[in-house]
Amino acid sequence: MPTYRTKVSERIRLPSRTEREEALETAGYNVFNVDADDVYIDLLTDSGTGAMSDEQWAALHRGDESYAGSSSFERLESAVRDVMGFPQVVPAHQGRGAENVLYGSLVDEGDVVLNNTHFDTTRAHVANQGARPVDCPVDGARDPTARGGQFDGNFSIDRAREIVDDVGTDAIPAVVLTITNNSAAGQPVSVSNTREVARFAAEIDATFVIDACRFAENAYFVSEREDEFDDATVAEIAREQLGYADALVMSGKKDGLVNVGGFVATDDDDLYQACKHRAILYEGFPTYGGMAGRDMEALAVGLREAVEAAYVADRVEQVRQFGERLADDGVPVYEPIGGHAVYIDAAAALPQIPADEFPGQALVCECYLEGGVRGVELGSFAFPDADRPELVRLAVPRRTYGPAHFDHVAETVRSVFEDHESVRGLRLASDPPIPELRHFTAELEPV
Ligand code: F0G
Repeated sequence: MPTYRTKVSERIRLPSRTEREEALETAGYNVFNVDADDVYIDLLTDSGTGAMSDEQWAALHRGDESYAGSSSFERLESAVRDVMGFPQVVPAHQGRGAENVLYGSLVDEGDVVLNNTHFDTTRAHVANQGARPVDCPVDGARDPTARGGQFDGNFSIDRAREIVDDVGTDAIPAVVLTITNNSAAGQPVSVSNTREVARFAAEIDATFVIDACRFAENAYFVSEREDEFDDATVAEIAREQLGYADALVMSGKKDGLVNVGGFVATDDDDLYQACKHRAILYEGFPTYGGMAGRDMEALAVGLREAVEAAYVADRVEQVRQFGERLADDGVPVYEPIGGHAVYIDAAAALPQIPADEFPGQALVCECYLEGGVRGVELGSFAFPDADRPELVRLAVPRRTYGPAHFDHVAETVRSVFEDHESVRGLRLASDPPIPELRHFTAELEPV
């Protein structure tokens, strides 16, 4: 049950079918190019698109915009200490800014970084250092038909040991755990796996990093699924799980419940010093690091709200009910449903479309045409060289949409699915310069 109500409303509009057809054609069949005003329900991302609380809006007015020694920074620091357990904080403009600060400080050319699954920007920052990002997912984590693991986001120590045998421990400066695992359908990571990864990282003398973007949602799954934590609160679980890390890298746009912001947090003084100095170069002075004082205030409040039991239960249950409704309607979704999004198996939904005609992108376009719903393709269009399933992600912004909106989305997806034989594939009509980032800008056309 929601424990909030709407104080400020935002107008949204379902354009006519003809307008949607025109908008999609103008966008080159790429929904990143569609104007947000032409989208009815926007499930492109859960990042920075949620509603702030009245307490967060009130906190904005307290923002101390001093260049140095801002009291807003102190409030952010104490929220990170209380909620996440880390004393040193280097703010950044968003998650990828924090990644640049952290991985730029930790990783050198020729290194190898291990992660349960690197998110795109994480992969890019590791590669940008001249290092090699290697994923260590557990078996079945990427298989939309595997159905059933309770902690499919976990890190495979066996896989990591194979890499160590191959490259040696000296080449591995960092072991990263992404909770929840965005690139594995938003599946959670258990605390027992976190402990194992911490032990493994210590054994090979690597820094243990947690990408904490969705740490509160992950803690909620732990409270439900890991027996040891039956009686623990989400706040207690979050602190324990994060506490095994040497450093956190955080996008506040997710479980910080803000529209922009991020940070690195650590209890390692040497790492803190290195990050602080790199942040001055790329982000800003260490007491604002790319954020306005007011945004640090909102983030400080948002971190505390994110671990409130009633908030996080409502959040994860809303996503789950939406996903289960699609599953009940016969739509092939990744199960169990993840914490922030529902992932549809487009290869199963549109079996007549081969991978080189982008079934996921065809499904995304069709959902927009059918109901003005915007999702995102995470298959062979977004990851040209990777062996990934053809997933479409419908990400749910926090505290934003209600049951009637999800009814509309479910109805839209169901009718696309029912009429799936009429859906055509797509081919590329332009060739952006960076293949890894082509899905943001490339244009396509129907086959
Ligand atoms: N790490 C993870 C696991 C993420 O999901 C994201 C962003 C980032 C890092 C980077 O954070 O966007 O603040 O720079 N994920 C968004 C998404 C963009 O749609 O999944 P950022």
